[in-house]
Amino acid sequence: MFSYLSIYEIEIYKYILFFTVYSLAGWVIEVIYRTIEQKRFINAGFLFGTFVPVYGIVACSIIALNQFLKDENLFVQIAVYVTLPTVIEFFVGILGEVIFGLKLWDYTENRFNLMGRICLSFSIAWAILTLVMITVVHPLVYSWVGIFGEETIAISSAIIVLYFTVDAIFSTLFLMDFTRKMSNLITDYFSLTHTEIEKILSSFNRILGAFPDLNKQLNENINKVLKGRVDIFFNTINLKINGIVQGRKPAEKEYDEIVRDILENDTFLKLQNYFHHDSSILEHVKKVSYLSYRIAKFLKLDYRSATRGALLHDFFLYDWRNHSEPELAKEKLHGFAHPKIALKNAEENFRINEIEKDIIIKHMWPLTPRPPRYRESFVVTFSDKYVSSKELLLNIKRKASNGASNKRISK
Ligand SMILES: [Fe+2]
Ligand SMILES: [Fe+2]
Repeated sequence: MFSYLSIYEIEIYKYILFFTVYSLAGWVIEVIYRTIEQKRFINAGFLFGTFVPVYGIVACSIIALNQFLKDENLFVQIAVYVTLPTVIEFFVGILGEVIFGLKLWDYTENRFNLMGRICLSFSIAWAILTLVMITVVHPLVYSWVGIFGEETIAISSAIIVLYFTVDAIFSTLFLMDFTRKMSNLITDYFSLTHTEIEKILSSFNRILGAFPDLNKQLNENINKVLKGRVDIFFNTINLKINGIVQGRKPAEKEYDEIVRDILENDTFLKLQNYFHHDSSILEHVKKVSYLSYRIAKFLKLDYRSATRGALLHDFFLYDWRNHSEPELAKEKLHGFAHPKIALKNAEENFRINEIEKDIIIKHMWPLTPRPPRYRESFVVTFSDKYVSSKELLLNIKRKASNGASNKRISK
């Protein structure tokens, strides 16, 4: 029936099958990686279906090039196999930015990256995958595809092309809708109700799981809006915060009344025994809580919950840089683990509401992938980062001036 198919047509159909197999394999790799990373099942990739096409594109390009390179020097072959996936990743990154205005992945915080689109560690991973694919996997896939007759290959290819076209159209529309909703969320963030924010965020759930770096963009943009809103009064509050950072107490009756029971709790007061940034955890959480109180009040939010949640946000009773408790997280892992520990301590010692819970558990966002559900939680993530960067800066300055005076003494 298909005897009229030319050898070129059969080749194209075979490539469609290769593309499908490797896109599926890529999906499996990404699902395992993301699911382990986020400790929940993540349907990876931009398509709805179980395929990540960039893997299929890389694999088909390598297979096609292999025809011309197989007689070349081994070093030339390896050099091409190792660099091609990275080049493709770079251009697919540009394509995503141009079409959707989104950085679907962002390696700016990884070492040796180029414009955040590619980085050394991922390029090494790509290179290893490519070499395994071309030497071990592809001979098996090739002989497996060879089992099927021309007719089967042609029919299945046609179905696959139809499927990919439909999925690509719907996925593109979905991503465009996501971009639109994301910009609405950003501009209207502080005038939306909790339910509206929750509704928008739950529709982002899959895409933020598949591309967790989008959290960074969301955070940066909401930050900009918040800064714009509080800029007018930020100069006055800045003076006050500087005072608190330097160690002076805010004299605010209402604030004192909101936090009194927490600051009288003996377990909570143990926070003064643990070093954090430039002083103790207790000093740090008081500053974050006061800043959150002022911002939330200014924005007419639930400032009581913001203040109390902020005070409890780092309620962990250990020195994260230096402890010998095997069950407690250290250094890098501490960043992910301590919100849960703080929430557990807060629930054991105080009655806390849903907003306060969300503030504590989400305060490390966007390091932890789930975005805050409430505007009050966002105010606290902002205040925490603002205070922390001030404290770290002060600490560096102190160390530098101590170093300088030590040098003077030793001279
Ligand atoms: Fe924290
Ligand atoms: Fe903190």
